[in-house]
Amino acid sequence: MDDFVEGGEVVSMGNISKEEVKKEIEKLRKEIRYHDYRYYVLDEPEISDAEYDKLMRRLQELEKEFPDLVTPDSPTQRVGAPPREEFGTVRHSIPMLSLSNAFEETEVYDFDRRVRKGLNGKKPEYVAEPKIDGLAVEIVYERGLMQVGSTRGDGEVGEDVTENLKTIKSIPLKLRDEEIPPPRLIEVRGEVYMRRDDFHRLNQERERRGESLFANPRNAAAGSLRQLDPKVTASRPLGVFFYGIGRVEGREFKTHWEILQSFLKWGLVVNPYVELCSDIEGCINYFNKISEIREKLDYEIDGVVFKVNQLEYQRRLGEISRSPRWALAYKFPSIQATTRIRDIKVQVGRTGALTPVAILDTVEIGGARVSRATLHNQDEIERKDIRIGDTVLVQRAGDVIPEVVKVIKEKRTGKERKFELPPYCPVCGTKISHPSGEVVARCPNISCPARLKESIKHFASKQALDIEGLGDKIVEALVDKGFVKSISDLYRLKKEDFLTLEGFAEKSAQNMIDALERSKNTTLDRLLYGLGIRHVGQHLARVLAERFGDIESLAKASEQQLLQIPEIGPEVAASIKDFFTSRENLRVIRELEKLGVRYEKREKPTGDKLKGLTFVFTGELDNFTREEAKEKVEKEGGKVSSSVSRRTSYVVVGKNPGSKLDKARRYGVKTINEEEFIRLIS
Ligand code: IVH
Repeated sequence: MDDFVEGGEVVSMGNISKEEVKKEIEKLRKEIRYHDYRYYVLDEPEISDAEYDKLMRRLQELEKEFPDLVTPDSPTQRVGAPPREEFGTVRHSIPMLSLSNAFEETEVYDFDRRVRKGLNGKKPEYVAEPKIDGLAVEIVYERGLMQVGSTRGDGEVGEDVTENLKTIKSIPLKLRDEEIPPPRLIEVRGEVYMRRDDFHRLNQERERRGESLFANPRNAAAGSLRQLDPKVTASRPLGVFFYGIGRVEGREFKTHWEILQSFLKWGLVVNPYVELCSDIEGCINYFNKISEIREKLDYEIDGVVFKVNQLEYQRRLGEISRSPRWALAYKFPSIQATTRIRDIKVQVGRTGALTPVAILDTVEIGGARVSRATLHNQDEIERKDIRIGDTVLVQRAGDVIPEVVKVIKEKRTGKERKFELPPYCPVCGTKISHPSGEVVARCPNISCPARLKESIKHFASKQALDIEGLGDKIVEALVDKGFVKSISDLYRLKKEDFLTLEGFAEKSAQNMIDALERSKNTTLDRLLYGLGIRHVGQHLARVLAERFGDIESLAKASEQQLLQIPEIGPEVAASIKDFFTSRENLRVIRELEKLGVRYEKREKPTGDKLKGLTFVFTGELDNFTREEAKEKVEKEGGKVSSSVSRRTSYVVVGKNPGSKLDKARRYGVKTINEEEFIRLIS
């Protein structure tokens, strides 16, 4: 690529002139910005993460050597500002308005009628966009350089979160000028959000650390952006979609669509589902289409937005009570309902964490029947003053476990009872541990039947040992009957044991024995993940398996050795070490081996039929689980990705495909069915 880099290390700057270094720095910045654009805006990366990191490292090295060549728009300058005492304020030069809402189709037609009346009968075009459930921000770019970023606040004045916004990698510090030059000044507006899976991961981590949980991805995004220390924001996976402008100088736009297209050229991410509709019927069709794919999106949306496309028409329509007359939010049906808390029970998880759960009068929310809602922890119960017998507002949003939003205090009769976490584990009676300062209380007894049940469910799960048919109910019965006292006891089970359980007959009991037998042939990463070592998720299990090859070597590894692995920090290293110091855990591992559990290292490719090809799967396959299909692809040297980009080679379409199929069509990626896939791999 260039003369200075060899295996990512600085060789020597020798007698290279500063002028040359400056040139190289500029070239690197340009390259990095280009790859950011490919990755974030086009969703079509050209280089691997490792190659990208190499460019970044080289730039960092050069800038370290020549600090006077560092500029604020350099891609290295995303994190660096020290924590602040408080946020400054920013007055928006044009107020950030809010949208009027519609919940019924008739309200949408009414909106269109009002618009046409306001335009003396002229019919406008509309732009339809998903309404992202995050928080609104505004960023000012002057001569293409990011200057100030702020939250919406009350619409007039927001908080100065410039340094925090800079840590979001998809926000350009400098607008691209390759296709069209950015205007002298432009204020761009968009929504910062957190993807659902990142939200779940963040909450899991927080739970492990005993920190309070975020109620939903929107709160997680807002909480992450409004951090006084930008380093904290930098550690949170945030994304952004831009959807509008404030003040502009040095450029005239004619339509909203033109604004969005210009955004893309400047490297500002626009939601891929935006659409131009020629009339209001088109908007209604758009709403129906988006409603169908809503649950399959990686992020949460709470409706769609329709905007009059022609800016001249927007100006003519103006605004009324802080909402533009030219835009409408058509919201999805409510996902909240009121019901009564009958009781509060305590659940004990795999790590011993105690979670209070509200038992509700069953209620339908957005098409699902809900009879339980998480109350997260005691602090949360106190903060919301939740009592047994209360009438409460319950919310179910996408993937998030139903939760209590608030108590309807007007409905109190005086008979409601306060709830306190019990001092003893409700399952095994051990005194619970609740160190002061920690949010999460735990049952410390590793043999607690509740913990055991959860550990076994985890061990048997698809991603771990994949013991087919060993569902939650069966695990609970096996533990309750005393057949299983540790993970390894699973492999001592006999057909007769299953026959004593409700619902089992000769054939189904034999099926369970066969499934247990099959699960014995596994891989090291599955086994490590299945053991439920705190902080060791699927990814880390893979890394450890690759690095150590067998359990004995991992068990012997020192914390120091573990810390050499980039993915591992002190807390994780200590937890792995702890796990392998426990005699009980070592005994279980020995037993598993004795009872025939065998693992191989992850299979290295044996063929190369699919070398260089990337596959994405959507929908159910008849002949393979996702995991099996992935193994087949990898065995032939191919790769499997979870999302479609223009570089995807094939999208394999099974039954009930999801939004990946739409994306494949939009990108012109080749789609094949299961039969064609089988032909490719055999
Ligand atoms: S346009 C005047 N477009 O919804 C128009 N807003 O109540 C201002 N939002 O504060 C907003 N996705 O936080 C617009 N595609 C989208 C949006 C969107 C989410 C949020 C935004 C705004 C609120 C409007």
